[in-house]
Amino acid sequence: MPQIQAQGKTITCDREANLRKVLLDNDIDLYNGQASTINCHGIGTCGTCCVAVEGEVSEPQWREKTRMSLPPHSPSSGRRLACQTKVLGDVRVTKYEGFWGQGSDTEWTP
Ligand code: FES
Repeated sequence: MPQIQAQGKTITCDREANLRKVLLDNDIDLYNGQASTINCHGIGTCGTCCVAVEGEVSEPQWREKTRMSLPPHSPSSGRRLACQTKVLGDVRVTKYEGFWGQGSDTEWTP
């Protein structure tokens, strides 16, 4: 089973598990500040669940590509929307600062 490293925790999940759901179920601070209450609850429109992911995950689909092409995100950032990402193997997750997690300084690391 895949393992996720995030915010100092190691979490085991099912292959193809939704990254957002696994992180929230394990009390990882996926959202920064008020984004924890003001978010789209995983439908891929708000962009606040943005994280950097290293490891084997699903490819971005049209919904994620669309949101990541809009400010403050950038399609060239390489970051992912956790709500649109399936875990396929071991992964390491980093959260960056800013309401949308769009910043350059880390909030937390794997
Ligand atoms: S929770 Fe809104 S885009 Fe992921």
